[in-house]
Amino acid sequence: MKIPELCLVALVGVSGSGKSTFARRHFAPTRVLSSDAFRAMVADDENDQSASGEAFDALHYVAGKRLRAGRLTVVDATNVQRHAREALVALAREHDVLPVAIVLDVPEDECWARTQARPDRDFGRPVVARQHRDLRRSLRGLAREGFRQVHVLRGVAEVDAATIEYEPLFNNRRELTGPFDVIGDVHGCRAELELLLDRLGYAITRDSLGRAAGAAHPEGRTAVFVGDLVDRGPDSPGVLRLVMGMVEAGSALCVSGNHEAKLLRKLRGANVRLTHGLAETMTQLADDPDVSAHAAKFLEGLISHYVLDGGRLVVAHAGLKEAYHGRASGRVRSFALYGDTTGETDEYGLPVRYPWATEYRGRAMVVYGHTPTPSPEWVNNTICIDTGCVFGGSLTALRYPSRELVSVPAEQEYYAPVRPLAPDPGGPAGSSGPDGSAFEGLDLADITGRRSLETPAGRVTVAAENAAAALEVMSRFAVDPAWLVWLPPTMTPASTSVQEGYLEHPVEALADYARAGVPRVVCQEKHMGSRAVLNVRRDGSGAVYTRTGRPFFADAAPLVERVVAAIGRAGLWDELGTDWLLLDAEVLPWSAKAEPLIRDQYASVAAAAGAALPAARAALVAAAGRGVDVGDLAGRFTAREWSIAAFADVYRRYCWPTDGLAGVRVAPFHVLAAEGANHARRGHEWHLALLDRLVAAEPELFTTTRRLVVDPADPDGIAAVTRWWLELTGAGGEGMVVKPAEDAGPRVQPAIKCRGREYLRIIYGPDYTEPERLATLRSRNLGRKRGLALREQGLGLAALDLLAAGAPAWRVHQLVFAVLACESEPVDPRL
Ligand code: CTP
Ligand code: MG
Repeated sequence: MKIPELCLVALVGVSGSGKSTFARRHFAPTRVLSSDAFRAMVADDENDQSASGEAFDALHYVAGKRLRAGRLTVVDATNVQRHAREALVALAREHDVLPVAIVLDVPEDECWARTQARPDRDFGRPVVARQHRDLRRSLRGLAREGFRQVHVLRGVAEVDAATIEYEPLFNNRRELTGPFDVIGDVHGCRAELELLLDRLGYAITRDSLGRAAGAAHPEGRTAVFVGDLVDRGPDSPGVLRLVMGMVEAGSALCVSGNHEAKLLRKLRGANVRLTHGLAETMTQLADDPDVSAHAAKFLEGLISHYVLDGGRLVVAHAGLKEAYHGRASGRVRSFALYGDTTGETDEYGLPVRYPWATEYRGRAMVVYGHTPTPSPEWVNNTICIDTGCVFGGSLTALRYPSRELVSVPAEQEYYAPVRPLAPDPGGPAGSSGPDGSAFEGLDLADITGRRSLETPAGRVTVAAENAAAALEVMSRFAVDPAWLVWLPPTMTPASTSVQEGYLEHPVEALADYARAGVPRVVCQEKHMGSRAVLNVRRDGSGAVYTRTGRPFFADAAPLVERVVAAIGRAGLWDELGTDWLLLDAEVLPWSAKAEPLIRDQYASVAAAAGAALPAARAALVAAAGRGVDVGDLAGRFTAREWSIAAFADVYRRYCWPTDGLAGVRVAPFHVLAAEGANHARRGHEWHLALLDRLVAAEPELFTTTRRLVVDPADPDGIAAVTRWWLELTGAGGEGMVVKPAEDAGPRVQPAIKCRGREYLRIIYGPDYTEPERLATLRSRNLGRKRGLALREQGLGLAALDLLAAGAPAWRVHQLVFAVLACESEPVDPRL
């Protein structure tokens, strides 16, 4: 017997008919769920009939899990009673797999003889007899109960002789790897189809009357039609002739559209209303006896969807949700042909559809048609390529796997659309991702709870509590997630310095990389501002957000405009072949974003100290004058006054007045990504050279990043960097960031900061340089910070890789969200 590769097999037979023996012989043990085993599991006794209810509950539960995962499942139970089988048919339907019955119809005497011989079966003959009566009553009705195949093995010999073969489902063409050209709804537009095939490189063959009767691609590409070949248009028979020829010759596949299904019913003589262009098709067919003669057979053979290329591509006329991929049932077919309708109609009388694509989270690309749109848009790895040719739009093909779209315009409007061709009103509010794809609302389930994500730095696990914290920030404060495609990873400081008076020093920063075997590093000045990510589009739109995803400015538009113009002047759009750019940068001054922080946390300290310390010192001096022994208290207060002055000096350098954009400067240092490209792994000299051109194009706005490239193990290099760093920080600079000049892989820190001695006063306190304070601080532990930095870097790279590959927005967002979740790890905030 041949059974489908994916089905639910119900073995049917009385006790002793040999079901378990049969199952053992023909199916791998993990595929067989036996009621005996489940009775034993729930009651420690496989014969305990009182446990049957619980046992079958558990059995059905496990069977459901298996079917959901698309695994063939065999139920070894007597199944001689109708209600037992009904439960199995329902389970199969619930998971859209075919229910199959295999009946072991063995004479009652034989069954009784075997049962008697078994020490583990203690029921009497009447039980077997009753089961046998139940079985006889059941035999005729099995197909009506919903079993799609019923195999009855009569007698011991037939049971013993049986063999089982597996049949692939019709929709399973995973072995075909393409490349494919998926073609949208043709609707009788034969001329446009010929033109499109020609554009795609197919050679069209013609019959003796010069009519297109087939086409093949010289490189062996395969066309895949999404259905709705017919109706409304000028030459449905011509389209059928061409596509039928291609399908027959193996150069095309075709799934059924709703119009094919309706035409088939008409051709079979059903009473079908001649609406929606069917009347035209019937008239045209009457004039084309060749096609008429073969059309019904062709249409009959069309199946509702194909799973192609190892499961990576699914083609269905109206799309298909993931749970239905590779499944076979009435509702799968109905979804594939008509879509998931709500039962309501819109103001044009057309059915309202559920936004299945918005909710789609599958890995397979789903290409479909059915709903005409002015231009195809990617939604979560799905794309509708019906561009309404017959309504005067165009005929579109998607090349797979390159995702390239090829269109030819309609020669004319052949049929007036009921609803004007406009983007789906049920779609998103119109924000679109930086890769040009429509951004579809996120699902909480994508980000909440514990989650483990694959990154170049290994799997990164986000705990549920961290995800909750990130959700709080993201949902309340972040920019539109469509812009939020990357967040900067945290950065670890250099290993704690042993240099006299220093907590961080270039010697240790360079040594960290020398130890990691990095041959060249770029030391970049650390700008005195706030981290900002610029995501800008050539059309002038964009967003500027902080390292926690918040909008940097109340209105970023004026800044974005200038950035976009400068990128244009520098010629970067064309050079990088992109319409959008993602830049990592620092926005200065710090006070532009952090003025309240500076005012409340730093200035108030200096102000309080400024009032208290001179008074305290004066009191000490007066006391000393009266002959009181104040020891070195006066000296200590003088030192604290000096520290406070130095402290105030530091933060004051970060403040200058800005008015809107006037006074704001941007220091970009990393070109993260552009259309189809993750640039983040490119060498930093490439980045800085490119960005210098941006600075040159708009020196009023952009600030260059000063840098020094050295071998971190070279004593001369170390000396040069130390001199440079002392000079920078001596002039009030914040410090430097050291990075491997070339990508050093995911296990090496992408950047190490080395902060100036004075700057650290605002981090560790004005008098952290006091020897005993410094000694304490030197025991700081960098381990967690370093691990966090690598994990966040991995998440960011994974996000950019997905972005470059055109992955669905929700997958990119999962990674970006995880960066924010990592940031809610409890790590010493001063590092
Ligand atoms: N048996 C046999 N010859 C066969 C098939 C089975 O002698 N061709 C024996 C088995 O070895 C077993 C007994 O018959 O001792 C019952 O077979 P089994 O496969 O266990 O029958 P089931 O239908 O599974 O019976 P139950 O419903 O009681 O589990
Ligand atoms: Mg058994």
